[in-house]
Amino acid sequence: NNYAILMAGGVGSRFWPVSRADFPKQFHDMLGTGKSLLQSTFNRLEKSAPAENIFILTNADYADIVKQQLPNIEDRQIVLEPAVRNTAPCILLAVLKIQKENPNAQILVAPSDHWIEDETSFNSDIQAAFDATQRQEILMTLGIKPTFPNTGYGYIKAEQFHKSPIKQVERFTEKPNYETAKTFLADGNYFWNAGIFIWSVKAIVNAFKKHQPNMYSLFKKGLESFNTKDESFFLDSNYTQAENISIDYAILEHASNVHMLEASFDWSDLGTWGSLYEELPKDEHENVIINSQEILLNNAEGNIIRTSSKKLVVVDGLQNYIIVDHKDALVIVPKEKEQDIKQIRANAIKKFGKTY
Ligand code: GDD
Ligand code: MG
Repeated sequence: NNYAILMAGGVGSRFWPVSRADFPKQFHDMLGTGKSLLQSTFNRLEKSAPAENIFILTNADYADIVKQQLPNIEDRQIVLEPAVRNTAPCILLAVLKIQKENPNAQILVAPSDHWIEDETSFNSDIQAAFDATQRQEILMTLGIKPTFPNTGYGYIKAEQFHKSPIKQVERFTEKPNYETAKTFLADGNYFWNAGIFIWSVKAIVNAFKKHQPNMYSLFKKGLESFNTKDESFFLDSNYTQAENISIDYAILEHASNVHMLEASFDWSDLGTWGSLYEELPKDEHENVIINSQEILLNNAEGNIIRTSSKKLVVVDGLQNYIIVDHKDALVIVPKEKEQDIKQIRANAIKKFGKTY
C-alpha cells in the first residue's frame, strides 16, 4: 500500500543562470553525481515505495524532460499540471488519483531538491512514519534540528517532554521573519520542516475537506474523470481556478493532527548556490570549482565557480563569490546576496525581454 509523490514542478530561480524556466534545477546534475536531482530522488524513494507507485508531479511543460530522465516509468505515473499553482493543488490532485487506485494507500510526499546522503537512515525513518500513519489518522512530517534562523523554512514546535521520536506538533509556522526565527531557535523546542510528509489517503483527504473546502470541492468535480482519458479535459478547464498556495500554508499551519518524526539523517535543501557550496568538495582555499578544467586562481577564497563550456577561467582577488557562466548569462554575485538572485533574474527578464 506504499505510494510516493515526488514534487518536481518548481523553477529554482535562485540557481539562475543554470536553473531556468525551460530546464529547472531538479533536472540538472547539481551535485556532480552523474544523476539529476530528479533521478537521485526517484532512486531514494524506490526503497520506500515500489517504483510503479511513485508519481511525479510537474508542470505540463516538463513532461518530455521527465520521460527522458525516467524512461522506465509509465505515463500514468506522471501527473501534469496545466498551470503553476504551487504544491497544495497538485498534492490534492495526486492524492485523489491515488485514492481511486488504492483507497488504503499510505503516501510519502517528497520534494526533488534535497541533499540526503544516508539513504539507509532515510528509509528506516520513512518506515517508522508509515507504521505510525497506518495506526492513526495523523499527518506526519520529518523534523530537522535547526542550526541557524533560516527564514526560508517552515518551523515546527514539538511537544515538550516527549521521549518517543514521534512527537505531537503544537504549532507549525511556515517561513517566519528573521526576528521570529531567532526566538524559535532560542526556545529550543523548534525543528525545521524538512518538507517530507507521510500520511494515509484518508488523513490527507479529510484534512483538505476541513481546511481547504473550496479546493476540495473544485477537484471533487473531476473525480470521475481522474485516471481516464477525460482527466486532462477536466484539468485544462478547472485547474487554474485552484488557489495558488503551498501545502504548508494550506494544511500544515491549520491541522491539529500534525505529528513530527525527528530525522536521523543529515539533510539539506538545495535552494541556493550557498547551500550547494556547503555540500561539495573544496580546494585548499575553500573554493568549489564545478566543470572547469583550466582554471587559474590567485587570492581567491570561498568562491563557488561553475562554467559549462570549456574555457580558461581566471579569478584574482575575489572572496566568497558566486561565479556562474551558463549559456547566454554570466552571473557574478557575492555569496551573501544569494537570496537576491531570484529578483536579479526577474529584473534581467524585464529589462531585456528574454526568458533566461
Ligand atoms: N509539481 C509541482 N508544482 N512542484 C512544485 C511546485 C508546483 O507548482 N512548486 C514547487 N514545487 C516543488 C519544488 O520543485 C520542490 O521540489 C518542492 O515542491 C518544494 O518547493 P520549494 O519551492 O522548494 O519549497 P521551499 O523550499 O520554499 O519550502 C518547503 O520546503 C522547505 C524545506 O525544504 C516548505 O515545505 C518548507 O516548510 C520547508 O522547510
Ligand atoms: Mg526547497
